[in-house]
Amino acid sequence: MSQKISLTRYLVEQQRHDGHIPSQLRLLLEVVARACKGISQAVSKGALGGVLGTADSENVQGEVQKKLDIIANEVLIEANEWGGHLAAMASEEMDSIYLVPNRYPQGEYLLLFDPLDGSSNIDVNVSIGTIFSVLRKPEGHPGVTEEDFLQAGSRQVAAGYCIYGPQTTLVLTVGDGVAMFTLDREQGSFVLVQENVTIPADTKEFAINMSNMRHWDAPVRRYIDECLQGKEGPRGKDFNMRWIASMVADVHRILTRGGVFMYPWDKREPEKAGKLRLMYEANPMSWLVEQAGGAATNGRERILDIAPEKLHQRVSVILGSKNEVERVTRYHLGTD
Ligand code: AHG
Ligand code: MN
Ligand code: MN
Repeated sequence: MSQKISLTRYLVEQQRHDGHIPSQLRLLLEVVARACKGISQAVSKGALGGVLGTADSENVQGEVQKKLDIIANEVLIEANEWGGHLAAMASEEMDSIYLVPNRYPQGEYLLLFDPLDGSSNIDVNVSIGTIFSVLRKPEGHPGVTEEDFLQAGSRQVAAGYCIYGPQTTLVLTVGDGVAMFTLDREQGSFVLVQENVTIPADTKEFAINMSNMRHWDAPVRRYIDECLQGKEGPRGKDFNMRWIASMVADVHRILTRGGVFMYPWDKREPEKAGKLRLMYEANPMSWLVEQAGGAATNGRERILDIAPEKLHQRVSVILGSKNEVERVTRYHLGTD
């Protein structure tokens, strides 16, 4: 790429030429990117910034919060509440929706986020990230309610994540393919490094937490078992395994070189549909993956078609290289 294209320029061109994004959405995405820069800064300080370790609190899902879960959540709220582009926000780390205070103008968008994904990796200096999803507030009534957020993933108008790894990279879709922007720390801006990201349809790499194997359902066991049999098994090829335990990092690898990621329902807590959250993790990641030519299902149906019933709803997730996701889905549906 001869001339550097900043995120700002990319968004302006998306607005000007392609009509993909109205100016309010452009502003929203700029603000999210700025917040991610702030979080990246805090993450990179580690122990020097006093940001490691656990806070004395639990979130609505009963998970112990890390200091950075709370810091990242605050950074995102403070950056986004005053710009006039949002009506309300929802976060994995907040019990209920956050309305833009009355003293600020109300916009037409809803922002949802997992402020810090991969919390168990913070203290061990492994890649973590922020995941976000943008919906339009439904028309026809003043104010915002939790129901306004309960829209299927197919209604998202923007989605992405920022990974804080060896590089800080923001990955975005506004429904026109997937683009990646790496933070240039000297310039202080995100610079386009890849457009039209494409996931190969076939792969020899899977990502799943194997320690849960004894709790899996038969279709997942069958799929992984066949992968493990390698060249000698029904798949006729050897597979490799990766599990980073930060969804952002596992999805980033899949967008970069293909693969299949699974966090399926399992018998540990059978009443829960899965571990990952539909609104903050599965929907934005599924849209990115589909926009890159991959697929995402809960084993039975397309994740983006699921009608949410609750803000903090959980879901079983299988996403990545299309032919593998379709295979796992066939195993679940018994259509193989
Ligand atoms: P979070 O840190 O936002 O709670 O999300 C962690 C998620 C996800 O990023 C990752 O894929 C998964 O939890 C890892 O779970 P295990 O520790 O059970 O492998
Ligand atoms: Mn997460
Ligand atoms: Mn989180």
